[in-house]
Amino acid sequence: MFKNKKFNYALFGNPVDHSKSPQIHNFFSKQTGLLHTYTSYNVLLSNFNFSLSDFFQKDGLGANITAPFKEEAFSLSHQLTERAKIAQSVNTLKKVNNECILGDNTDGIGLLSDLIRLNFIKKQYSILILGAGGAAKGVIFPLLSFGCSIFILNRTSLNAQKLVTQFNKYGKVNVFDPCLSSTKKFDLVINATSKNIEKKEDFFPLSCISSHTCFYDMNYQFDNTPFINWCIKKGYKSVSNGIGMLVFQASHSFFLWHNQFPETDYIINLLNKNY
Ligand SMILES: NC(=O)c1ccc[n+]([C@@H]2O[C@H](COP(=O)([O-])OP(=O)(O)OC[C@H]3O[C@@H](n4cnc5c(N)ncnc54)[C@H](OP(=O)(O)O)[C@@H]3O)[C@@H](O)[C@H]2O)c1
Repeated sequence: MFKNKKFNYALFGNPVDHSKSPQIHNFFSKQTGLLHTYTSYNVLLSNFNFSLSDFFQKDGLGANITAPFKEEAFSLSHQLTERAKIAQSVNTLKKVNNECILGDNTDGIGLLSDLIRLNFIKKQYSILILGAGGAAKGVIFPLLSFGCSIFILNRTSLNAQKLVTQFNKYGKVNVFDPCLSSTKKFDLVINATSKNIEKKEDFFPLSCISSHTCFYDMNYQFDNTPFINWCIKKGYKSVSNGIGMLVFQASHSFFLWHNQFPETDYIINLLNKNY
């Protein structure tokens, strides 16, 4: 199925058609002189295990994994980094010693790196995460380790509660109940939902936002996301989409594969201008 190529890296997901990862990794490859091929594979839901094994049995050296396969990639990894073990989700794989597959999760460190770049985060910050899916799961541990406290608000509160149970041994993480916490203020609001939240003010109260609250949307698209548009309309000043997170998670994958960090600012600016 996969052509024999040296230094073969890939992205697996469904869908992957609009992914910017090939462009980012090709840019990193040129910039560092570490030449590799990076191909996207849109795999059927039932075919992930087979496709991945086939890739690594041939010349595949490393892969990025996107939705909906991050949990399956976690189960298929032979070894795990500490952060992947804690997140129970894997977005980066690396073949080690020519036989074993190491699973890592670079989403959380990718988000944290971008929040630091933007000056959107400080130790002790109180963060509201909207959503409790795979993306939220990947970022909670790094944010807690940085010294922040986290509240999770999700459409299905049981899913938020599951994340609290998974992560509360690592720091302060709670389900946010707007009815019970009307005086609570957040320093940072992160949108980790996959679809537009209708009627945002019914979802989370404006009383939890202060003049210095920052807003980060993990989503990105060719123009402003609905969440970003809503923030702009409300007059909030510190607002960002998720392009930086995407580039930084890729840079940490690149580091795992090649032991070298690529430069990130240029490609973040380029993607933000030309998306
Ligand atoms: N920038 C990056 O590098 C990066 C990295 C990872 C992910 N992402 C983005 O982050 C987003 C979330 O990804 P994911 O993997 O976590 O997806 P996911 O596992 O499918 O989770 C989706 C989350 O969104 C919530 N949701 C869906 N539709 C909603 C609606 N209409 N109103 C309110 N909540 C809604 C779901 O709530 P329920 O639990 O109630 O279903 C769930 O919490 C995706 O758009 C993805 O592209 C970006």
